[in-house]
Amino acid sequence: MTALLDVDRLTRRFGGLVAVNELTFSLDAGEIVGLLGPNGSGKTTALNLISGLVAPTSGQITFDGQPIGGLPANRIARRGIARTFQLVRPLPSLTVIENVITALAFRAEALWGKPAEEAAGRYLEQVGLTVRPGQAAVDLTYIDLKRLELARALAAEPRLLLLDEWLAGLNPTELRAGIKLITALRQSGITVLLVEHVMDAVHALCERCVVMNAGRKIADGPTADVLEDRDVVRAYLGEVDA
Ligand SMILES: Nc1ncnc2c1ncn2[C@@H]1O[C@H](COP(=O)(O)OP(=O)(O)OP(=O)(O)O)[C@@H](O)[C@H]1O
Ligand SMILES: [Mg+2]
Repeated sequence: MTALLDVDRLTRRFGGLVAVNELTFSLDAGEIVGLLGPNGSGKTTALNLISGLVAPTSGQITFDGQPIGGLPANRIARRGIARTFQLVRPLPSLTVIENVITALAFRAEALWGKPAEEAAGRYLEQVGLTVRPGQAAVDLTYIDLKRLELARALAAEPRLLLLDEWLAGLNPTELRAGIKLITALRQSGITVLLVEHVMDAVHALCERCVVMNAGRKIADGPTADVLEDRDVVRAYLGEVDA
């Protein structure tokens, strides 16, 4: 089977800093894989590269057999890759529904008008967000902002979903709901690459993890093995010492 996503020696420099350094890994369709690593190890930059927010300095990204490295974000979105942001960023001056509707414009088949409104309602329901008609995005609680962020990503009808610490900052009840939601997304056929520091969630969701440290991949394998790996433990402990 060919991989859905194949990342090959992907590298991104910012001046003298190599934020992502020769990163190589692949995802099969239907997998949920954790992308782990201490703060500043290059996880968000890796997602930025895959989603087209940042262009690679070198290396290849192949999605569904096609090279996508360096394409603009909107074209990558149309191929079927959506992401959430570590710092949630809905459009605060719009209503919740309008926020999802604007995301519908990024689909291969864009929706407008009444069908768009109905579709937006379905995505909000899917993520468990109930809102009053006309409710402003700016009034949402933190968990509901996260739900909105996910609804916006799902509105793009992704085959690959990139989640950047989507579960961070949730209380235990919300975390359980979030894990259930991501499990349901996977069951619906979406492949997920999940950047996460919440280890309970990583254990619950990911059969496999890729671990980065200082831009490089230091481990890739079954979650339990990877989390016991000497280099991985040292990378995380090093962070505590710092
Ligand atoms: N646009 C940018 N310009 C300059 N440096 C950047 C840029 N984006 C990221 N970096 C640097 O690249 C390195 C990796 O950052 P990145 O955000 O990818 O880490 P991360 O693994 O997501 O960390 P965290 O767990 O804290 O979110 C950091 O040193 C960061 O300061
Ligand atoms: Mg990050």
